[in-house]
Amino acid sequence: MKMNKYIIPHKGKVTKEDRQKLKGHKSVVLWFTGLSGSGKSTIAHALEEALYERKIHTYILDGDNVRTGLNKDLGFTPEDRKENIRRLGEVAKLFVDAGIIVMVAAISPYKSDRSFVRNLLEPGEFIEIYVKCPLEICESRDPKGLYKKARQGVIKNFTGIDAPYEEPENPEIVIESDKESVEEAVNKIIRYLEEKKIIPKEENKNA
Ligand code: ADX
Repeated sequence: MKMNKYIIPHKGKVTKEDRQKLKGHKSVVLWFTGLSGSGKSTIAHALEEALYERKIHTYILDGDNVRTGLNKDLGFTPEDRKENIRRLGEVAKLFVDAGIIVMVAAISPYKSDRSFVRNLLEPGEFIEIYVKCPLEICESRDPKGLYKKARQGVIKNFTGIDAPYEEPENPEIVIESDKESVEEAVNKIIRYLEEKKIIPKEENKNA
């Protein structure tokens, strides 16, 4: 895809930093990657609730949901997944510009697609969260009954069955969702955000 050389982006006076200041926190992408059924969406939604309580502005882009609209023309070939991730990444970048902490929950099985998104963003803005869970456990959970269909050959190119999942090499955060509770995962991510000064530390927590 080529960019038209006669398109000159307009720059407004209100900047990303201005919008962040208004909101009282920084904006980043929390990119949840992992097998289907690993718990990406569950953790992202629990995290959103915890951040909402702290008046942090968030949004969730869930692969399954975005595939019913913006990405409804895409399937699960490597090319389509690449385009799915590219679009999710570009939309996430817009959210970061808007001053919002955006959580993306998508299998995003290919390293190259994830590093493409990392490179779209400024250093420190892409926080890769590997929701690690053995295939056997995801398959035994099978919340949508899709592993069963994949084993029967009804669904082709299913991640973990007949399509690959490339593990992240240097994720910022790893959640072992078969060992850690959702609450522990949420606390771990919040601690990270506080340490990196993306969100302010909670005051008077035990007061
Ligand atoms: S990604 O690989 O392109 O990142 P995405 O997260 O958007 O995938 O969508 C994955 C969801 O689509 C799964 O949670 C599952 O519900 C559904 N799905 C349907 N077919 C497949 C498939 N062949 N492989 C993986 N997930 C599939």
